[in-house]
Amino acid sequence: MPYLYGHNLRLRSAERTDIPQFLRWINDPEVVENLEVYAPMGTVEEEGWFEAMKARPIDERTLVIEVHPEGSDDKWVVIGNTSFFPINQKARSVEIGIMIGEKDYWNKGYGTEVMRTMCRYGFEELNLNRIWLRVYDTNPRARKAYEKAGFVYEGTLRQAEYKHGRYMDVHVMSILKSDWIKS
Ligand SMILES: CC(C)(COP(=O)(O)OP(=O)(O)OC[C@H]1O[C@@H](n2cnc3c(N)ncnc32)[C@H](O)[C@@H]1OP(=O)(O)O)[C@@H](O)C(=O)NCCC(=O)NCCS
Repeated sequence: MPYLYGHNLRLRSAERTDIPQFLRWINDPEVVENLEVYAPMGTVEEEGWFEAMKARPIDERTLVIEVHPEGSDDKWVVIGNTSFFPINQKARSVEIGIMIGEKDYWNKGYGTEVMRTMCRYGFEELNLNRIWLRVYDTNPRARKAYEKAGFVYEGTLRQAEYKHGRYMDVHVMSILKSDWIKS
């Protein structure tokens, strides 16, 4: 698969050599605060996840987010990952997930640009009709990024998750191909 280019980033296929970095992110409590991750992960678990991910259809595999480090236009640095999974082939609908694991790169517009790049890929290359996501009530940064990328609030799954000793509301947001074309 060729790289997918956004305004200031690119997305590439995940490699086995990315596993140590993924493992560092997934074990960082701050990074996974608003993700469905609660147990410590080791190399064995991450390698198992990697094999299962690579066995999925190519459109549903994890992509790595790369950006230019500050002060360089020719180097790339890995900051996170994203994926469409699973695709509902009949409805042409898919859930999207994103994790920027390098915290120094939060709040710089990359999350928004990743969503825009994935929307363009999903609607213009994969012929999807709906891209949707779940976001915790406790994650206003993510909700803002998704809104900036054109996602709209659909509804709330009440007390759908449990973390830190309490139930949490989870919001559903989506963007349709028709919204994308209008934007
Ligand atoms: C959530 C995530 C993808 C967002 O990406 P990002 O690159 O940090 O976000 P962006 O910079 O594109 O946009 C964030 C916006 O939220 C705003 N924001 C940050 N913290 C905020 C807060 N507490 N309340 C309201 N808005 C906030 C930022 O100012 C920015 O808006 P602006 O551009 O108008 O100033 C990224 O931070 C991340 O991966 N976090 C860890 C994992 C995670 O939570 N994944 C998502 C699970 S649904």
